[in-house]
Amino acid sequence: MGGSRTLVAAAGRRTWPRAGAHAHVSYTASLCLRRGSQLSCRSSLTNQCWRAAYSSVFATPSTHQPSPTTTTTPKASSPATIHVNGKTYKTDSWFNVPANVLAATTRKLHLQKDHPISITRQILESKFPGPTYKYHNDFDPVVSTVENFDSLGFPPDHPGRNRSDTYYINKDTLLRTHTSAHEAALFRARESPGYLISADVYRRDEVDRSHYPVFHQMEGARVWDRASVPNGDIVAAIYEDLARLPTHDIVVEDPNPPHHPERNPLQAKHHTAAEAEAVAAHLKQSLELMVVEIFSRAKAAAVKQDPNFVDEPLRVRWVEAYFPFTSPSWELEVYYAGDWLEVLGSGVTTQEIHINSGVPSQIGWAFGIGLDRIAMLLFQIPDIRLFWSQDERFLSQFAGVSDNLGTLKRFIPFSKYPACYKDVSFWLRSTSAAGGNSKAANAHDFHENDVMEVIRNVAGDTVEDVKLVDDFTHPKTGRKSMCYRINYRSLERTLTNAETNTLHDQVTQALVGKLGVEIR
Ligand code: DAH
Repeated sequence: MGGSRTLVAAAGRRTWPRAGAHAHVSYTASLCLRRGSQLSCRSSLTNQCWRAAYSSVFATPSTHQPSPTTTTTPKASSPATIHVNGKTYKTDSWFNVPANVLAATTRKLHLQKDHPISITRQILESKFPGPTYKYHNDFDPVVSTVENFDSLGFPPDHPGRNRSDTYYINKDTLLRTHTSAHEAALFRARESPGYLISADVYRRDEVDRSHYPVFHQMEGARVWDRASVPNGDIVAAIYEDLARLPTHDIVVEDPNPPHHPERNPLQAKHHTAAEAEAVAAHLKQSLELMVVEIFSRAKAAAVKQDPNFVDEPLRVRWVEAYFPFTSPSWELEVYYAGDWLEVLGSGVTTQEIHINSGVPSQIGWAFGIGLDRIAMLLFQIPDIRLFWSQDERFLSQFAGVSDNLGTLKRFIPFSKYPACYKDVSFWLRSTSAAGGNSKAANAHDFHENDVMEVIRNVAGDTVEDVKLVDDFTHPKTGRKSMCYRINYRSLERTLTNAETNTLHDQVTQALVGKLGVEIR
């Protein structure tokens, strides 16, 4: 868990290239420095803004404790119980799931035939055939903190556990923040040597064209069991399986050693170097095949629409990474539209997960990839909100693709409706009444995700993005003011002025009511 590893990883990251014309953050966790956020995080293709959180937190011991009583966290109207997927859950003071997010649990876009998220899932699944790989696409989004965090080795003070970042139903129960939440259970179940899980995942986050509080991930793993391979020779068994995989002709840059004592350590207590190297070789070949498939299909779709499309050879590279649940770990990056794009996170699974799952003789690898941003890239979809659209002008463009992946075409945007920018400026709530240093308390309590969520909750998908355009601390009183610019733009129609004004008024009132800010 050396700091140097994180620094290396963080320094090398880039932001998500213009997947559509506009997406600005990378997907597996590139440099997405969250203004005003207690953690500065990178985001990338596996998820939104988290992988960095894993890295940075582990490198720099955090003093930030998850706080059940963060004063600015908006109170979602708290029902005593809620229902998700036919099950009833009791809420408590940790409950913070707004109605629009709860409603998304019913959508299951990854299972909706001919939906771009579902098509993307199918394309990735095609590179991990059964019976070796079993697909699990219907796991419940509600999991325990043990499944989502503890079972994977997240420390108790990891910022991902904060209510400012995660949707809690009650203190011990949350909407999964990643598909890795199901890893330990599947290792324990031993149903198949490999698996893929596709699912909706939930994170409180900023609002823009590549961030949405609900997105989709695919998680995959492959294990071997010392107790059942011929002669107990797990290294030989893995290389035999590797030899059976298809090959590809892409040049892959992989400049680092297979493990490194500080930057990317072998789990020496549990694995020999030969074992970790065999697992890594199988992992890399399997995931390279998946990435080649995605980008070949993206290219085929581009050529179809644009006969003058200039083909450039695919460039792919492995970089060292850090996750609590793998070691050594890597991210796979692809050179795309002039920049290195992180596509997935992966690694040799930590042996503790296998041991705690009652299968100590297993060793293996796992990876995680975000489906939404891969779909944005494949189909050239410029705004993540479009995935949630029920507009036929969107959905009809993908008709028939699930049954015949070869017919995949790029999305053709229907008209772009006018944007309407409105600013809201407010003073943060003064906490001087509560005593202490009001300046510090304000800065500490305020979390930008709360602002994002209040806005999204009132104005829904008519908000395209929200940006901090100004912040100011009064030199005498120490009070802090912020100004956010909200871009209202429907994907489906032109909003009237009156309508936008009403929405903005409602947003303003909600900020006052839920966060206790004072409008300037
Ligand atoms: N769970 C990680 C995330 O949400 C992605 C991930 C990284 C999954 C590495 C894995 C892995 O299984 O080995 O960003």
